[in-house]
Amino acid sequence: MTSDSASPKTAVDRVPQAVRWIGEEDGHLEILDQTKLPLSREQVVCRDVPTVIEAIRMLRVRGAPAIGIAGGYGLVVAAREAVRAGMAPSAARSHILAQAEEIATARPTAVNLRWAVERSLGLLSSLPAETAAEQLAHVLLEEARAIHEEDRRLCAAIGRHGAAVLPEGGILTHCNTGALATGGDGTALATITTAWEQGRRFDIFADETRPLLQGGRLTAWELTERGIPVTVIVDSAAAHIMKSGRVSSVIVGADRITANGDAANKIGTYGLAVLAEAHGIPFFVAAPSSTFDLSLASGDDIPIEERDANEVKRPLGVQAAPETAAAANPAFDVTPARLIRGIVTEHGVISPVSRETVAEMLGSQP
Ligand code: MRU
Repeated sequence: MTSDSASPKTAVDRVPQAVRWIGEEDGHLEILDQTKLPLSREQVVCRDVPTVIEAIRMLRVRGAPAIGIAGGYGLVVAAREAVRAGMAPSAARSHILAQAEEIATARPTAVNLRWAVERSLGLLSSLPAETAAEQLAHVLLEEARAIHEEDRRLCAAIGRHGAAVLPEGGILTHCNTGALATGGDGTALATITTAWEQGRRFDIFADETRPLLQGGRLTAWELTERGIPVTVIVDSAAAHIMKSGRVSSVIVGADRITANGDAANKIGTYGLAVLAEAHGIPFFVAAPSSTFDLSLASGDDIPIEERDANEVKRPLGVQAAPETAAAANPAFDVTPARLIRGIVTEHGVISPVSRETVAEMLGSQP
């Protein structure tokens, strides 16, 4: 990966890449284990599909664009399995298709994962039936690299468009939407870092983001690595901080945005949008076009991932609730379009947010 030429000091220079393919088509996938951050930098070496799926499910790689990129490389890993097993062309293709479905369903909410897998499979289907497994691996690697490189460019564009609409004053963000979550400098976090690199100065508040602390462990770490000051707050402090006048805008990422502009994102995002409206603070979402799912009419149709109750009851291995208590752990919620001032995409900012303006920006039928 190269760094963004418009911005010589990108997160890519200082924050290790979330996902890397090492070598050529006979190489392997390397995933930075984000569950170990910020304490240690450890890589998961993926030479088989179960390892890729485990890394996605356990959030070793996470963030909608990054899991899409991992899914693209995951198909190359599947093709490598076929090569190692000496499969004939038709068996190799069937193996890749079966593994592709497993990868695409590893996490249900972020549409980027299925989007990337489908994109690579589309290419596969255009190749002759007699194409050997080695050649399938080669083609899939080229496509995964293209998805990865495109995302880097989309992040840079989102950063520029978002920086232009963020008002002066403090900014609050949620979860992690930076280099760790994408192939480039991020989405929502890129708008913040781009504004900072343009010389603007403001307070940045990062919600710690219970239960897995992506804000505290990852966003605060990324910003600190870049030399940008950040204040971590517990999620429940957001209302107080907004009321005190220290926040002029809220910007978050998204895992899936439907045709009407409703946006699924990390649990707690919807509450922030309600709070922002109550305090007259503009609420922005930043996401590439690969995060839009125009096949869904509204956010009511988005599948919400329910994760293990132990993530709530035993955060970081510390018993925080009686073992016998039940715990609900929805990983995402949906913010209705009416609460979103603008959606920052690589093409520009959708504002106001409606079925018509979403279709207009993405070049589709409303
Ligand atoms: O469960 P996670 O950590 O994968 O959730 C990530 C988020 O909700 C992000 O805000 C979203 O994927 C956008 S990342 C650019």
